[in-house]
This record gives sequence, C-alpha cells and structure tokens, in this order.
Amino acid sequence: MDQKNRCRLVLFPLPFQGHINPMIQLAKILHSEGFSISIIHTRYNFPDPSNYPHFTFHLISDGLSEAEASKLAILRVIKLLLTNCVEPFEQCLAQILSSEDSDHRVGCVVTDAIWDFTQAAADKLKIPRIVLRTSSVCSFIAFSALPLLRQRYLTDKDYRMEAAVLELPPIKVKDIPRIETHNGEDMYRAIENMVRETKKASGLIFNTFQELEEPELAKLQEQEQFLMPTFAIGPFHKRFSAAPTSLFTQDRSSISWLDARAPGSVLYVSFGSIAAMDQQKMHEMAWGLADSMQPFLWVVRPGLARGSEWLEMLPNEFLEATRDRGHIVKWAPQQEVLSHPAVGGFWTHGGWNSTLESICEGVPMICAPFFGDQMVNSRYVNDVWKIGVRLEKGLERGEIRDAVRRLMVEREGEEMRQRVKCLKEKADLCLNAGGSSYQALDALLKVMDDTGK
Ligand code: UDX
Repeated sequence: MDQKNRCRLVLFPLPFQGHINPMIQLAKILHSEGFSISIIHTRYNFPDPSNYPHFTFHLISDGLSEAEASKLAILRVIKLLLTNCVEPFEQCLAQILSSEDSDHRVGCVVTDAIWDFTQAAADKLKIPRIVLRTSSVCSFIAFSALPLLRQRYLTDKDYRMEAAVLELPPIKVKDIPRIETHNGEDMYRAIENMVRETKKASGLIFNTFQELEEPELAKLQEQEQFLMPTFAIGPFHKRFSAAPTSLFTQDRSSISWLDARAPGSVLYVSFGSIAAMDQQKMHEMAWGLADSMQPFLWVVRPGLARGSEWLEMLPNEFLEATRDRGHIVKWAPQQEVLSHPAVGGFWTHGGWNSTLESICEGVPMICAPFFGDQMVNSRYVNDVWKIGVRLEKGLERGEIRDAVRRLMVEREGEEMRQRVKCLKEKADLCLNAGGSSYQALDALLKVMDDTGK
C-alpha cells in the first residue's frame, strides 16, 4: 500500500495521564506509517494542540467544570465522563464522517477500552472500532474474570487475602482488582461494560510485547469471546516518547541531582498521576526511605498526601535526616530518570506505563499497588517476571526498609537486575524488523488499511 494514500483514523483517549500517554504515542506511530490522525478529546485535560501540529483535534464537551472536576474522586470523574460524553462523542464522530472525501476517507475509530459507549456509536455510524487497552494483558484477563472472582472470593466478609485465586495463578485474593469506595458498584459495572464492549470490537491493541506476556496473550485468544485480532505492538514509548503530553511541569533538577550520584545508587520513587494516601502512610514511606540509608529521588505530586498542598505532612526530622541523600520534586521527566545511569531501582505503584518504562530501561522495582490493574501488575513483577519486590503489608516502614535494601544492596536485587536487563533486551529486539511487535504492527496496519477501503 502506498503510504501516502492511507486513510484517516479517529482516536479517542481517556483523559488521564496514564491513558493519554499511550494513545498519543500510538497516534504518533500510526502517523509515521502514513495515516492521517484526528483526535477527539474531552475539555477535561485537553492537550495543547500546538504540540501536535500533524494531528487534527476535536474538542467535545464533557459537562465538567475544571473547578468541580479537581475536587472529585477520580472514579466519580470517570463515571461522569462515561455518562456525559455519549452524545457529544457521537455527534463529533458523525460530523467528522460527514466531512470525509476521497482524500480523507475515515477507516476506523480507535478508542480507549474504558469508553464503553463508543462501540454503539461506531455501530450506528457504520464504522469499525478498534480498542486500545492501555494496561497489561494479565490485568485485562483479571478484569474480564472479575464478576466470577467477586462471586467466588469476595462475597464472604472475611475473605482470606493471602489465599490463591485458583483460576488465575499466581494471583492472590488480595490482588483481585476490587473496588472499595462507596460508588464501587458503578465502577464494577463500568468494568463489565468495558469488557463486554471490547468483545464486540474489530481489533484489540495492547501496549505490551509478546516475549513479556506470551502465555497471557495465548490465554486471551483461547477465550472464545475474544475472537477479534489482538495486536501486542508495545512498548509504544520506545518508538515515540509522549513527553509533550505531560499534564504537569517536569522538574529538570531531577536530572542534575542524579548527575552527581554514583551509578546504580539511587532509588527513584513515584506513584504516577492518581494514587493518594493519608498522612500516616506518608510517614511510613518517609521513615522506610530514611531507615534504608539509600539515596532516593522522590516524586511527591501535589495531592499525593490527601489534604496537603505539598510537603507539609512530612516530618521535619525526616527532611533533616535525608537532606544529603534525598531529593524531592513535584513531577519528574520519568523516562529520562529511569534511563539515567545513577538510578538502580524504581519504587512504583505498578501503573502499567511505569512498569513498562522500568522494564524498558532494565530497572528492577519495588511495587506498592493502590488499586485496579496495579494489583495484578505488581504480582507479575514479583512472582512471574521476578524483577522486583511487591510490598505485601501495604506501606509499613520496616518492610519498606528491608525491600529497599534487598533491591539496592543485596545479591537478590542483583539477580532481579539481571532478569530485567534480559527483558529490556527483548523489548529492544521486538521492535526491530522481524521482531514480534514489528510484525504485530504490520498486521494491525493491514487491518486498518482494509477498514479504509
Ligand atoms: C493510570 C492508572 O493508575 C494505572 O494503574 C494504569 O495502568 C494507567 O492509568 P497512573 O497511575 O498515572 O495511570 O500511572 P502510570 O500508568 O504509571 O502512568 C504514569 C505516567 O506518568 C508514566 O508514563 C510516567 O512516565 C509519567 N510520569 C509519572 C512522569 O512523567 N513523571 C512523574 O513524575 C511521574
């Protein structure tokens, strides 16, 4: 196919950092392959289009005022978006389709899996929908089994957290992505809708690679309801970074501070863009870091400590004690940090982007999952890939101190480092001509070309 004649694709990201990044990276990949790109985006977290001169942006109303959204819990924002965007999305897509001509034929829409209503809109407008699931395959399998897992393991009030989930080894009951907020049932419904509507899609894209999740990809394809072609074409960010999509200002002092540190000596600590905790947990984290005696670069995002502006919840004694070996920023250039020679470990919440970025730089992890896919990703880091330590007691200073020392100082950490370096090499190779992600991308491009005929 002559690349210049490729069709237009309409992409619709979920407007959160961990979802915008991979969708924009995917847009860049597809654009570089000759497709024209239109992006439908909510007003909420609308990116600066001047950063993407090659894409056409369409803003849709989401019924959220910025002031209101900033005060709401994230699950509430998702629920409102899932209700408020139904009509604006359909109208916007219809308008894009009505303005197509032979030079701008629209092939398909690519939407985040969580946008469940987009399948009905695509069906109505007779355009194929391809789904981007921005997280791991292993967590998607857990999400698709969630109704069954809830019934089998979570109905008993005193369910045994450490018990094995027999259907999905090595997942434990405590790794099931359960939702414990007052509007939990709404979110369980949203997850069920996500899985059900994904099954109707014409294709399913994952930001992963075959060598990392081969058994899980095979397992998904064995499930008869997932009959659509599946494309593991990651890691996206190794083809194109998403730097301009950062919703927060990256503090460059992270890099100059690392420049003055010994190779492999620093633990990088960051819990992504959403996780939050109370003051007691912040103290456990701080004292665990202090007691480990290791240098650290810590991203304390405003909002990480609930109810605080920034660092006021951290004890002065901790700040004093770690002045010479700790650096705290509000937001870091994470991919650059992870590739810095001074970084020897990453204490993460197990968000999929962070997990994949760490693997791609050969950095072993400590995982402290908070919710959702993070629970499953962290179990895989610890038990399957054996490239890190999952904190099993939550945030508790003694376990944190020991985990940091296991990872950064002890032989066990060195073994994890060797294993993650092997995975890094596989991640590099899968993108080269003939590699698994290269071939999967080729197959995806053919499917997309067919939609544009
Ligand atoms: C959310 C969910 O919480 C996560 O579980 C899911 O897998 C994706 O969506 P988030 O919590 O923000 O994402 O975490 P993660 O997936 O790790 O994405 C965070 C992104 O922000 C990464 O691409 C990371 O590089 C970037 N980041 C993070 C920075 O650029 N600087 C930072 O200081 C911290």
